[in-house]
Amino acid sequence: MSKHSSDSPAQVTVKTLQKRKQEKQKISMVTCYDAAFGVLIDDTGIDMILVGDSAGNVVLGFKDTIPVTMDHMVHLTGSVGRVVKRAMLVADMPFLSYNLSVEQALRNAGRLVQEGGAAAVKVEGGAAILPQVRAIVQAGIPVVGHLGLTPQSVHVLGGYRVQGKGDQAQVIIDDAIKLAEAGACALVLELVPAALAEEISRKIPIPTIGIGAGAGTDGQVLVLHDLLGFNSDFSPKFLKKYANLGEVISQALTQYDKEVKGGQFPGPEHSF
Ligand code: KIV
Repeated sequence: MSKHSSDSPAQVTVKTLQKRKQEKQKISMVTCYDAAFGVLIDDTGIDMILVGDSAGNVVLGFKDTIPVTMDHMVHLTGSVGRVVKRAMLVADMPFLSYNLSVEQALRNAGRLVQEGGAAAVKVEGGAAILPQVRAIVQAGIPVVGHLGLTPQSVHVLGGYRVQGKGDQAQVIIDDAIKLAEAGACALVLELVPAALAEEISRKIPIPTIGIGAGAGTDGQVLVLHDLLGFNSDFSPKFLKKYANLGEVISQALTQYDKEVKGGQFPGPEHSF
């Protein structure tokens, strides 16, 4: 029987994250977009599950995160939220779902929590969205910030490249401090130099979760499909592949196709 249905290990909350930071214990986070993987992840010790708008790239077939809508995110978050019991579930607020006004941000954050079952929402950006961050937190919804490479701004940033080099570093430090002061409970730092991520992690009281940000952050996050090796063509420097599932799945499906067409499946043992 799955541990998932028999044990009830302590639920990870914002309090857990604060304690981990104080006690210098690392935090693990991974993305997830459906119930099947949600159950598997929740049965491990992984602390946080992010229903990322990276869904645009890895499950919805878009070339980036920009076409991802609130309806997509509510739908995907719900499928994970209905099965996850232990890990802290964070849902991404997609492109332009929080930038227009505080009211828009509140309404949409509320949907991810109320309809999707998220315990927190994640937003990209710094100084420009502080009123939204404050209002969402005041409404009782924890907010995770996201600085460095913010994929929703890919057209302004001019591509998926390391951020925070030279003068830009101070802007990211200032934004990180402001987000923490505004009440964010954690901060994702994506594709920034390791030394900068370490400095921010020392300077702010909330946990930093890095992706392509070196080992000095308080935790790490990776995209599920990337760490499981679904796509053999995607191997950026920051990624460690813990499996080669793309190959395993492809071999299994090829074998199934062969056996159906060759008449080996179903055999007598699969028939009534
Ligand atoms: O959407 C996402 O998966 C993310 C992670 C890369 C942090 O924002």
